[in-house]
Parts: sequence; C-alpha cells; structure tokens
Amino acid sequence: MEFKLNIPNTLAIGFFLFAFLTFQITEAKVHRHTLKIKSKAYTRLCNTKEILTVNRELPGPTLRAYRGDKLIVNVINNANYNITLHWHGARQIRNPWSDGPEYVTQCPIRPGQSYVYRIDLTIEEGAIWWHAHSQWARATVHGAFIVYPKRGSSYPFPTPHREFPLILGEWWKKKNIMDIPGSANKTGGEPAISDAYTINGQPGYLYPCSKPDTFTVTVVPGRRYLLRIINAVMDEELFFAIANHTLTVVAKDGLYLKQFNTTYLMITPGQSMDVLLHANQRSDRYFLAARAYSSAFGAGFDKTTTTAILQYEGVPLTDELNRNPPVLPPYNHTEATTRFTSQFRSLRPVNIPVKIDTRLLYAISVNLMNCSDDKPCTGPYGKRFSSSVNNISFVNPSIDILRAYYRRIGGIFQEDFPRNPPTEFDYTGENLPFPTRFGTKVVVLDFNSSVELVLQGTNVLASDNHPIHLHGYSFFVVGSGFGNFDRQKDPLRYNLVDPPEETTVGVPRNGWTAVRFIANNPGVWLLHCHIERHATWGMNTVFIVKDGPTKSSRMLKPPPDLPSC
Ligand code: C2O
Ligand code: CU
Repeated sequence: MEFKLNIPNTLAIGFFLFAFLTFQITEAKVHRHTLKIKSKAYTRLCNTKEILTVNRELPGPTLRAYRGDKLIVNVINNANYNITLHWHGARQIRNPWSDGPEYVTQCPIRPGQSYVYRIDLTIEEGAIWWHAHSQWARATVHGAFIVYPKRGSSYPFPTPHREFPLILGEWWKKKNIMDIPGSANKTGGEPAISDAYTINGQPGYLYPCSKPDTFTVTVVPGRRYLLRIINAVMDEELFFAIANHTLTVVAKDGLYLKQFNTTYLMITPGQSMDVLLHANQRSDRYFLAARAYSSAFGAGFDKTTTTAILQYEGVPLTDELNRNPPVLPPYNHTEATTRFTSQFRSLRPVNIPVKIDTRLLYAISVNLMNCSDDKPCTGPYGKRFSSSVNNISFVNPSIDILRAYYRRIGGIFQEDFPRNPPTEFDYTGENLPFPTRFGTKVVVLDFNSSVELVLQGTNVLASDNHPIHLHGYSFFVVGSGFGNFDRQKDPLRYNLVDPPEETTVGVPRNGWTAVRFIANNPGVWLLHCHIERHATWGMNTVFIVKDGPTKSSRMLKPPPDLPSC
C-alpha cells in the first residue's frame, strides 16, 4: 500500500491533530438561514387566494441543528403585513432580543425590512418549532425546528430508520386570515371559525380539493420511525391517532419523557411531541387523523377531521384507501385528555426547586366586557369577548416592553400585576362575576429566585383547557387537578421526583396546574394562552427577570438592526 500524500508525515500528523483540535473547539456549529415572508396566492393548498408563506413553502422550512448549536436567521419581510418570528421552545438565554413576540420584546419587522435573529441552543433536544408572533400570521408562518442530540451522542432510544415532521395546522378557505383578529375586535364577537385542520399543509383525503395532495408517510415494514408532531393550530387542541398503530411518546416540547405507549395523543396548540412509530402492522395504507378536543361548553369550533396516509412500501399507490379513519376520543372528552397527559414523566431525575421564594396564583378566564360604543357588540348579551389573567386583559403597548425596560422609558407598562386574583372566589363555580380591566402590567422577578406559579382555570364564561406557554424558560409541572387549587392539601400530592419539564402546559378545564422554575434567565418574557383567540382577547401577561450580579448573568445588549416602532 502506498502513502500518497505530498507532505512529510510529521506535518501530516500535525495537520490532522490540528484539524481534530479545531473540530473539537468549533463543535457547536453555526447554521445560517434566510427566511423570506411573502403574501401570495398559494395553489398547492386548494388554490388558496391570499396567504402568507415562508420561502414559498407551507409549512415553512424545517430548521435542523444539533444540541448546543447556534443559528443565525435573517428574516426578510416581503409581505404586506408586519411580522416577527418566535422560536418556540428555545430558551434564548440572556437574549430576549431574539425571542420575537411583537410589542413585548421587539417592534414588528415592517414590510420591506429585515431583522436577524440569533438562537443559541442549550438544553433543547427533540422537536421544537418556530412561528410568527404578530397578529394571526402564525396560522401559515411556521415550521419545525429539530434539535438532534450532540454530535457523537445518540437518542435515549434505538435510532429510528427515518423521521417525519408532522405539522398540524388550520385553514380558512374564504377568509384572509390576517383580517380575522381585526374584524373580531371590531364586533366584539367570535373570530371566524376555520374550515379545516391540516397535516403538513393539506386538509387531506376527506376534502376533494386536497385529496390528490394528501400528505403521505411511506414506511418499510418492520422499521421504526420518529414522528416530530407539532400543533401549529390557532384555536383548538387536537386528538391525533394512526389507525391500527400504537404510538410511543418519547419527548415533549424538546425535553425527553419516560417513554409510554398510547393509541392517541392530545396535543395543544404550541406543544410538540416526539413519537416513535413501529411499522409492525399488515402492509397496507392507513389513515393518520386529527380533530378537535374542545371542552368549552357552548363554544363554536371546527368539527372537521384532517387526515394523512401511512403507506407501507410495496402496497400499490393506486389502491383506494378503504379503511376507516382511526377512532378518536369524542370532541369534549376531558377524561381522555387527562388519561393521556397524566402519563408525562421526565426521563431523568430532575432538580426541582423546593424552597420557594415567589408564589403566584394566576386565575385565567374567558369573560365578557362592556361594549365601548353605543352599538351593541356581537358577543353574548351584546357584550364583547375578553380574556384575562388575574382580571387584567393584556393590551399591547406602543413600543416593546423590553426596550422600555432596558432604556428606562416610562409610561409603557406598570409593575403592579396582581400576584393573586384581586378577589378570592369559587373560581370553578357557576355564574361568576368577573370585573376585568385592560392593562399592560408585569411581575418583576429577582434573578435566581425560585417561583411556583399556580394556573387556576375559571368557569367565568365557559371553562376550557388553556395551553399556557412561558417564553424564555421551561418549567416543571409538579401538580394538576380539577376544581379550585387548595394551598393546604394539593401540594402534598405534588410530584417532586420526576415531573415533566415543559414549555407549554394544558391547564385542565375547570382545574389548575402548578409549575415551578428558577428565574435564572434575565429578560422580558411573555406568558400566554396558545389558543390564538384567547390571546387576542387578552390572555397574556409578562415576567421581567432582573439581571444577575455577574457579567455572564446579565441580559445581552440590543442588536444594531432591532426594528423601531
Ligand atoms: Cu408559540 Cu408566544 O408562542
Ligand atoms: Cu386559552
């Protein structure tokens, strides 16, 4: 054998060593992306007239990185609407400037402008996602964000043969989605109900216009697949299942769980789940399907079913799909939801804060407000729909809270957000009075303080399961139950051993959820319901976490291209 390298051997060895060392040092790779937002007709989805897309794709491009990598994403707004993007599930340590919610951490990117987001991944691993955080643009401006284990390490389960992102979305046939919140706000009534849910941008097989484009997952018999399931739907939580197949849930919100088997999922808007699928059934074509879990009594919702196809390799594509969609729990089946979510446990033992510095009880409500004009609103009793956290219905300020806080600009927000409901009452009882006010109020937390936040659902107008998402953090879900939270009894039943760590938690209908976290990420962080109509009505609030004492525990400086208002 001949060694044919034109450099002396010692040099070559030195070179390889050098290359090896540089590889070690620069192991965290930097990925650069450009995302262009456009508004145009989109023929691939049943000839939809006007829709926002990213790089002309729906869903938008999948971002891929390894644990600990960095991403630099240049967002160019070529659409006719304001835009911001949020990296849902990414912690954004010390960097709220790249977090995205408009008027909370930045002013929107105006048409024709651009902004560069920087994402430094830390503990995220699994499926997270990205989406617009400006008005209702997220309906179509979203995509998967897959974080693989660190280079050289592997999944805590056998490596799957392949993976598929499955993004659940929502589609309005006749409406320009961007007009929905404006007209709902004008009338005070309900935002328009959608015409279909979608899987990877298609309503699917049950809709004639979409049938030929139905998304298909092709599998080799006997192999295992990793499904990256993301609920990007605006207004409904969903049940999801695959006919004849058992699913194995391994992660949620980019954090591993002890794996468990199930025949269906309940996934809320905002949540992502990593799910293993074993192609161990008879070679055939099967339905994947999703439809609403809607628990609010009397609320209208989209009752349609979206489908995709699970196609075993070798089965002729021309075969008609003569199987039934999988059996999904009934729309209002809260029991099925509880049964599913009570199985979440962190994979590894976790370090839960036990000594609590700050205790918060937030009552989250859908309610009604008086109409301001003489013309009655179109909500119940001629009033307008509203949502609140501790009776405050959040209003966007005129410039972002982060800038106002950082530059000490007064009059933009107040620091007196109530830490408990202003009046104590039977939150889950009947016929509740509920005075609600507009406000832009925050809670300020000390750096490194330990926080217990109890989210208390209420039955003010109608109780509902609210998927509450915290930006900048993940939290431990230590407890959950129905009825009113009992400060004496309920903490005795907390799971302080292996509670799931999540970024978006479904607070049960007419119940409560307790979460804990350490406020160790300085910045301005939004907490909100991920059901868009509830957020539009005001179910948002903000935490400001103060800087720590050292240079490395302080917020970063604002980037030079930060959009102005
Ligand atoms: Cu998925 Cu405030 O975000
Ligand atoms: Cu909600």
